[in-house]
Amino acid sequence: MNKYYDRYINYKTQIDERLFNFIEEEHPKSLYEPLKYILSGGGKRIRPMILIFCCEAIGGTIEDSIDAAVAIEILHNFTLVHDDIMDNADTRRGRATIHNKWDLNIAILAGDELIGLAYKSLLMTNSPNIGEIARVFTNGIIEVCEGQSYDKEFESRESVSVSEYLMMIRKKTSKLLETCAAVGAYIGNGSPEQVENLMNYAKNLGLAFQIQDDLLDITADENAFGKKIGGDIVEGKKTYLLLKANEVVTGESEKKLISEIIENTRDRDISAQAIQKIKEIYSDYNVIDSAANEVKNYTLKADSYLDELDNSDAKEMLKWFSKMLLSRNF
Ligand code: IPE
Ligand code: IPE
Ligand code: MG
Ligand code: MG
Ligand code: MG
Repeated sequence: MNKYYDRYINYKTQIDERLFNFIEEEHPKSLYEPLKYILSGGGKRIRPMILIFCCEAIGGTIEDSIDAAVAIEILHNFTLVHDDIMDNADTRRGRATIHNKWDLNIAILAGDELIGLAYKSLLMTNSPNIGEIARVFTNGIIEVCEGQSYDKEFESRESVSVSEYLMMIRKKTSKLLETCAAVGAYIGNGSPEQVENLMNYAKNLGLAFQIQDDLLDITADENAFGKKIGGDIVEGKKTYLLLKANEVVTGESEKKLISEIIENTRDRDISAQAIQKIKEIYSDYNVIDSAANEVKNYTLKADSYLDELDNSDAKEMLKWFSKMLLSRNF
């Protein structure tokens, strides 16, 4: 394809191998089978990639940063296992979620163990900055939990503003990407300015990433996306699209449908037709364009922080990465 894509695949293969071999234990089976299942079940591996490229962009290496990169991916998988419980999601990465394939208790415990495994890998990092690295990693976990809590609280709130939504996604999604940048930059011994620029890059990329995830929930192809289309609507999630639609719809029946989702007064059994109708509303009222525009703007803002850094292959890689994410359909 091209040299950037080849490098992404090369690094992804190394990360996948590490994740696959990370767990040597077999017993208890009810713990280790689901853990192996989740860690080897695919995923874009964008977080470890950001961590490694941020480290390289300031002179560090993949060898220095791969244990921390694996740690972040394990941590991300913890958030997914528990998020799928909280969101009643049956499918992830095109396969049954852990609580669906096994049961709730198994999924809770698998998530707990993933946090332990994440720290185990993080602490294999050999860096004089390990104290600072452990601190930002820990704060990342705390903020993701806060974000997840707002996400659930907002479901049953009658109104949520766009700025509250942005605060929520900043915590539940963008914070972990920012943490990747910070950890990578600390491992690379970055100057305070370099650390800050890389963190701002990842923070804005993270905002773009979540708005795009909201968008893909309604526009993606289910097979490519690997998650159930319309899941956010069924759960009554206050996504960017729903909040925007609530501001702009004018038709009576359309207003009614959107406010039923917003106010959570609709039966949980939302029909496929209702989801299709909402998709049409999003399209007719330019809500889809508006979300896509936000994604583009946050991505451009992210890239502007890279311009502050010296040129390097890794910096080009980060720019390619933003572009790749912008056009993703999964
Ligand atoms: C899903 O993350 C959770 C969100 C923050 C939207 P990804 O889209 O990175 O999931 P995988 O790891 O590639 O499956
Ligand atoms: C992702 O939010 C946030 C975390 C997993 C922490 P979503 O609930 O939108 O993620 P998906 O769509 O299930 O992957
Ligand atoms: Mg969620
Ligand atoms: Mg979810
Ligand atoms: Mg989502």
